Amino acid sequence: MRISVVGCGYLGAVHAACMATLGHDVVGVDVDAGRVADLAAGRAPFYEPGLPELLAEAVAGGHLTFTTDVAAAAGADAHFLCVGTPQRADSYAADLTYVDAAFGALLPHVRPGSVVAGKSTVPVGTAAGLAAALADVEPSATLVWNPEFLREGFAVKDTLHPDRLVYGVPGGTAGQRAVETLDEVYARPIAEGTPRLVTDRPTAELVKVAANSFLATKISFINAMAELCEVAGGDVTQLADAIGLDERIGRRFLNAGLGFGGGCLPKDIRAFMARAEELHADPAVSFLREVDSINLRRRERMVDLTVGVLDGRPLAGARIAVLGAAFKPDSDDVRDSPALDVAARLQARSARVVVTDPQALANARLKEPHLQYAATVEEAVDGVDAVLVLTEWREYRELDPGKLFGLVAAPRVVDGRNALDPQAWRDAGWTYRALGRQ
Ligand code: UGA
Repeated sequence: MRISVVGCGYLGAVHAACMATLGHDVVGVDVDAGRVADLAAGRAPFYEPGLPELLAEAVAGGHLTFTTDVAAAAGADAHFLCVGTPQRADSYAADLTYVDAAFGALLPHVRPGSVVAGKSTVPVGTAAGLAAALADVEPSATLVWNPEFLREGFAVKDTLHPDRLVYGVPGGTAGQRAVETLDEVYARPIAEGTPRLVTDRPTAELVKVAANSFLATKISFINAMAELCEVAGGDVTQLADAIGLDERIGRRFLNAGLGFGGGCLPKDIRAFMARAEELHADPAVSFLREVDSINLRRRERMVDLTVGVLDGRPLAGARIAVLGAAFKPDSDDVRDSPALDVAARLQARSARVVVTDPQALANARLKEPHLQYAATVEEAVDGVDAVLVLTEWREYRELDPGKLFGLVAAPRVVDGRNALDPQAWRDAGWTYRALGRQ
């Protein structure tokens, strides 16, 4: 099939490369000329395991091109809208500027009978508005909502082998034809047995925000239990293991620690609250306010724990190494990164903070230019009064506490992700503290 992907950020670039890998002819469109130049040369403009290989192969094979000219989308059988929907600066609501701009630019190039599929996470009701605008210009084209559930760090696998496909389509023959088009696009994952759910557009829009709200709630639930474990003398990691063995609960997304960040969960739960308010249904999701505040409390609690581990030495002037800047491992994304936020909070209280990360340093420098950065763990921990592990990269989980012991001024470690083996660190002579355990 001929496919266009409008918006080539974390979502669109991966979608474009994966669609070409599935055998389609794909053009990726983005307004950022630098990003387009990188992608056109087969280079991934951000860190995503597996993506550089797919891009290079598809570009070299001639199945994947990138351009800033949206006219190149003309002639596609299916167009995918993959632009960002960040939080608005002045409220909790989603900023739909990019969706509206991308859709408006694409509109004159949509050919009769084709499908325009929204993938961005949008407030419920957005698809209806876009569908009306499409009907005015090209009545035989169909607007569908086809939410994306990929996780950064696993984006290629999640796109090529998704755990489900959701199509939000209109009723009647237009909807049926759109289903056939999407089935052709996703023929390979469907042949592998991927469940595919066909529903209406509002449900499809809601599926995405409901899924992210559930995940955020699960994380904040275990972090609330961590608060209780701390005051009651319990251990939240053991509690999570025990309740997670109940199949109805499940152990995944029950890792207590510094909480969730990134470009999705925080802004999605806020946008959901804002949209529910517009629909006069705010009580239905008012619990998300609590989910958000539990999550944000983790960051200040991490600062308190750092003050505590210093054992009377003032935070002002203390040298602190922060291991991790990305919002999670296997990503260079620092959007709403809990790790970077804690680093900035400590610095604001006059600590001398040095941050390191295997992939996110360039982005971190842009976001928090006043922080000090180090290329390696060894450099970051040199002579510090405390080490904070705030993003659980594998190389941090596997650190040798014996080796680091000789580099620091004082062997104090705070495990913000419950990612280290407390006994191993204590045995090596470290004072170990963590969120939600003793
Ligand atoms: C999230 C969803 O998991 C994807 O399904 C969704 O498609 C995506 O948002 C999106 O809306 O585009 P992502 O933001 O890549 O994916 O990251 P997650 O793996 O969900 O992690 C989110 C945050 O939760 C991270 O900061 C992570 O450290 C934190 N987390 C995760 C925990 O604190 N504890 C856990 O047990 C799991």
